[in-house]
Amino acid sequence: EKGGFEHFMLKEIYEQPKVIADAVRGRMSASEGWIKLGGVSEYINRINQAKRFIITACGTSYHAGLLGEYLIEELARVPVEVEYASEFRYRNPIITENDVVLAISQSGETADTLAAIEIAKERQALIYGICNVIGSSIPRATHAGSYTHAGPEIGVASTKAFSTQVVILTLMALQIAQHKGSISTSYLRQVLYELQNIPEKIKLTLKLDAQIQEIASRFKDATNFLYLGRGVNFPVAMEGALKLKEISYIHAEGYPAAEMKHGPIALIDEQMPVVVLATNESAHDKIVSNIQEVKARKGKVIAVVNEGDVEIKALADYTIEIPATEEILSPLLTVVPLQLLSYHIALMRGTNVDQPRNLAKSVTVE
Ligand code: M6R
Repeated sequence: EKGGFEHFMLKEIYEQPKVIADAVRGRMSASEGWIKLGGVSEYINRINQAKRFIITACGTSYHAGLLGEYLIEELARVPVEVEYASEFRYRNPIITENDVVLAISQSGETADTLAAIEIAKERQALIYGICNVIGSSIPRATHAGSYTHAGPEIGVASTKAFSTQVVILTLMALQIAQHKGSISTSYLRQVLYELQNIPEKIKLTLKLDAQIQEIASRFKDATNFLYLGRGVNFPVAMEGALKLKEISYIHAEGYPAAEMKHGPIALIDEQMPVVVLATNESAHDKIVSNIQEVKARKGKVIAVVNEGDVEIKALADYTIEIPATEEILSPLLTVVPLQLLSYHIALMRGTNVDQPRNLAKSVTVE
């Protein structure tokens, strides 16, 4: 059942090209320039008139939600708030019938996310689910939704579910943007073409596995890790840190790169591995200076860059070169080396990769 892989987690990392292709199948055409998520089409008027989106989720699904904020605000130009379901449900949130509440959950059974949905429903918002497990509780509690079609995810550390959640959020943002006319037809096509190419580019990224394993062997005994990213790569930094904590039990933090100087920079010394997500073209110079700040304090930089980035290669201790893509889609590629890095480090430390201590696949109690 592990399809020749040693662990479910590794199998699920390698399934990402296929499940992303499954997630977009029948829902878009780059050549014809259309996107159609059934749930969005069904409620398009209400969604179009919404004054605000609120995204609520836990853990990795929350990180996908943070990306949803970048995607929906950038493309569809609607204000988005992202909330941990556990906080949202207990603070008497202001929700009206003009809000769309997006609940994201792999299992569809997370207790806090379900409770957040019930509150939002009482307050008349439109509730839209993005779930993986078909027929689970969340899809049954929502007005509309889209399944991620990632197939069963067995590893407790979520990987392919995350990528497909991001794909759905991208399609959703594009479909609303197209309806509103908030992006040009040519840009829309360009993004759709790039989205279609993502599975191929993930396959190329997976070929870096041996190199990532080598990097893992250098840092397997570290006690702390810092992950830095800007813009769309900030949520990926959070996700990379969570993956490492969960399965290797190494303390890690994900930070927006520019926040480093407001505190975490004090942690940096020659022992500290700093993973920098450096693919953003729009912020390249700023990322270069963030790397210089780390190097000036002798931190060890592992940079994930676009192929051919000689400038960062000259500065970083290790560079992982991945294929370039449209910036808003880059999380679908940058997350992959981070998944592999945490997998290999955990394996080298001898932890139980698929069933880490103290964790359950779905958290059905609060
Ligand atoms: O099933 P859900 O997506 O609602 O689960 C949410 C979190 O419990 C989950 O993402 C958790 O953080 C994972 N173990 C992360 O790898």
